[in-house]
Amino acid sequence: ELGRQLQLREVEGLLLQAATVDNWSEIQNFEAKPDDLLICTYPKSGTTWIQEIVDMIEQNGDVEKCQRAIIQHRHPFIEWARPSQTSAWNICSPCNTCITRTFPPDFKGVEKANIMPSPRILRTHLPTQLLPPSFWENNCKFLYVARNAKDCMVSYYHFQRMNQMLPDPGTWEEYFETFINGKVAWGSWYDHVKGWWEIKDRYQILFLFYEDIKRVSKSPSEEPLSGLCFWEGYPEEFKCSNVMLPSPQDPKHEIQKVMQFMGKNLGETVLHKIVQETSFEKMKENPMTNRSTVPKSILDQSISPFMRKGTVGDWKNHFTVAQNERFDEIYRQKMEGTSINFCMEL
Ligand code: PPS
Repeated sequence: ELGRQLQLREVEGLLLQAATVDNWSEIQNFEAKPDDLLICTYPKSGTTWIQEIVDMIEQNGDVEKCQRAIIQHRHPFIEWARPSQTSAWNICSPCNTCITRTFPPDFKGVEKANIMPSPRILRTHLPTQLLPPSFWENNCKFLYVARNAKDCMVSYYHFQRMNQMLPDPGTWEEYFETFINGKVAWGSWYDHVKGWWEIKDRYQILFLFYEDIKRVSKSPSEEPLSGLCFWEGYPEEFKCSNVMLPSPQDPKHEIQKVMQFMGKNLGETVLHKIVQETSFEKMKENPMTNRSTVPKSILDQSISPFMRKGTVGDWKNHFTVAQNERFDEIYRQKMEGTSINFCMEL
């Protein structure tokens, strides 16, 4: 257990994996380029999902091209660094399609990004104040995805159970305290989301919500949209201003927004294909997105799969009534003064 606990260290007030902290100055000095697109998320907010959507758009809906490498290698993770104590550590077993054929498997995120041809698509979990300054200086595009804090906590809890590179989460009750106090890798959910939300109009930031994408990109196996308003039946105070209401005629709303943001104009058929290919069911079965190539010694998917549930509202299966009340109170305090309006009852 101690070994697991020692994996996190603090840098500039934020807890991060030790290897990231060891490489901090290199990460901070990373040179962004004006045509970079940076995918930004708090952990467990739908990073992999939006990465696959973005890649499908970038590849004009060509599924084969999206199979060229595992998702971790397609979009370099800026703050990723190989843990120093594991010199011969591979992120995944060698495979034919994987980019590890050309990159040494333990390349740092910044090293990968540096040799990648432009236009580059990169990713980070860093909060605004700790992003390498060159991203702001170059006025890059940022694609931020936020997810309901309660579902994020649940997803993170199960991820820490299975991810041997992160501290053991302890019991659910213990983790509840750890999370609300921001004592997890990449820090406080509240600060992260607030930070990105507050600057969203000052830079080229497309701010999306996991819940919105989930609502509109239903997979074929799920019920079709009923045509009822999303908020039908909800009391007025629960209606969230942030949630765009897609009309039943416009079910691909969020993906279209990403397309526009990326300057792409793909037709209806491609759009439909993207919706299908990026469904939870498809991505769970896809070895290029489901982390199945990562050794069990790092991600033990027998404890909890990486593609776990992919739903909205799983927190209801974890939170006790008392925890929920306490969470709502803390949420109100921490988010006071911000105009972001998450619906916590989803
Ligand atoms: S990570 O480790 O921070 O990069 O994780 P991240 O990819 O951000 O988040 C993982 C959660 O996203 C869910 N997921 C999806 N949901 C819906 N549709 C699709 N296609 C999809 N792909 C990934 C994944 O299942 C994790 O959520 P939970 O609630 O744990 O299932």
